Amino acid sequence: MDKLRFALVGAGGFGAGHLAVLSSHPRVSLQVVCDASPEVTKPLAGRGIETTDDFHVALSRDDLDAAVIALPHYLYPEAVCMALENGLHVLKEKPFARDLDDARAMLACARRAERVLMVAGQGKYSPGFQHAKPIVDSGALGSIFLTRGIITYHWGGAFANDWRWRGEKAKSGGVAVIDSGWHILDLVHWFRGLPERVYCSLGSRNALPGDYDVDDRACLVLDYPDGGVGNIICCFICQPSNRQVLLHGTEGTLDITNRKVVLHEGVAENSQVTTFAAEGSALEPQFEHFLGLIDSGAAPEVGALEAYDIQRIVDAAYRSAETGEPVTLRD
Ligand SMILES: NC(=O)c1ccc[n+]([C@@H]2O[C@H](COP(=O)([O-])OP(=O)(O)OC[C@H]3O[C@@H](n4cnc5c(N)ncnc54)[C@H](O)[C@@H]3O)[C@@H](O)[C@H]2O)c1
Repeated sequence: MDKLRFALVGAGGFGAGHLAVLSSHPRVSLQVVCDASPEVTKPLAGRGIETTDDFHVALSRDDLDAAVIALPHYLYPEAVCMALENGLHVLKEKPFARDLDDARAMLACARRAERVLMVAGQGKYSPGFQHAKPIVDSGALGSIFLTRGIITYHWGGAFANDWRWRGEKAKSGGVAVIDSGWHILDLVHWFRGLPERVYCSLGSRNALPGDYDVDDRACLVLDYPDGGVGNIICCFICQPSNRQVLLHGTEGTLDITNRKVVLHEGVAENSQVTTFAAEGSALEPQFEHFLGLIDSGAAPEVGALEAYDIQRIVDAAYRSAETGEPVTLRD
C-alpha cells in the first residue's frame, strides 16, 4: 500500500505518543512536525525530522495527505479546519472541542472538504474494553439497568500550579468533565449510546494552588431512553487512579478496566466470575482505524459523530451544573 505523507501538530505532551506511532509506522512518511516549543522541536531536528513552530506553515504545505493534531483545545477549530481545507485527512485528539459550536464548525469543514475527520479516544482500543464490547453487544447482560463510569487520578500539574491553558475555561472548556471525564464518557457512550437527560454537580478551587476557573471534580447522573440510569464520577485531584466501567444488566454484570474484565453471570449470589487479563497499547490500533477510514473512502464525518454525541453530553452536563437542574441534550 502507498505511503501517506503526514504532519504532526503538537508533539509535546500527549502528542509525543502520536510521534512514536507516526515515526515507526511503515505506511507513514512524516514530512513535518510542528510545535511552538523549541524544547520539543530541537531534539527532533537533531534526528533529521523537519520542524516548524507555526502550524499555519505546517498545515498549508502541498506535500501532505494527512495530519495528526494534538493541541490546546482552543486552537482546534483553526488548525483542524485549515488542515481539512488544504485537503488533508485529520486525526485530532480528544475532546472534540471546547464547546458544541466549535465541534459543529469542524464537522462542517470536514463535510465541505470531503476529508476524513476522526476524533481520538484511545480507551476503546485498549484490550480490556475491546474484549468487553462483543460481550455487551451479544446481549449477554440482558437489559442494562444501571451503568457506572469512574475516572479518577492525581494530576501533578494541578498540584504544581502548572495549569497553563488547561486552567482557563475559555481556552480548555473545562477539565473534570470535558477533559478527564471525556475518556470515561467515550467508553460509556460506546456501550450505552446517548442518554436523554443529564444532571451534573461539579466543583472547583478545592485548596489547590493557582488561579484556575475550571472544574476539578464532577458527578453526573444519566437517564437513558430505555429506562436505565447511570452515573459518572470524574476527578483528577484524588487517589487512587481508576478508569472503570460497570454495566449491570438483568442477566449479568460486566466490570471493565483497561486490563481486566470480570463477567458476573446471572444475578444470584453464586454467580460465576470470569476474569481475563490483557495488556497492550491503544494508540497503534486507533491509528490503524484512522488509516482504515481513509482507505475505505469513509464519509468525512464517520470518525467524528460519536465524539459529537459525547460533546452533546458534555454540553448538557455543564448546562446542568449552571442551572442546578437536569437538562435534555441539544441536537
Ligand atoms: N488521549 C489521551 O489520553 C490524552 C492525554 C492527554 C492529553 N490529551 C489531549 O491532547 C491534546 C493536547 O494536550 P496536552 O496535554 O498534550 O497539552 P500540552 O500543553 O502538554 O501539549 C500541547 C503541545 O502543543 C504545543 N503548542 C501549543 N500551542 C501551539 C501552537 N500555537 N502551535 C504549535 N504547537 C503548539 C505545546 O508546545 C505543547 O508541546 C488535548 O486535546 C488533550 O485533551 C489526550
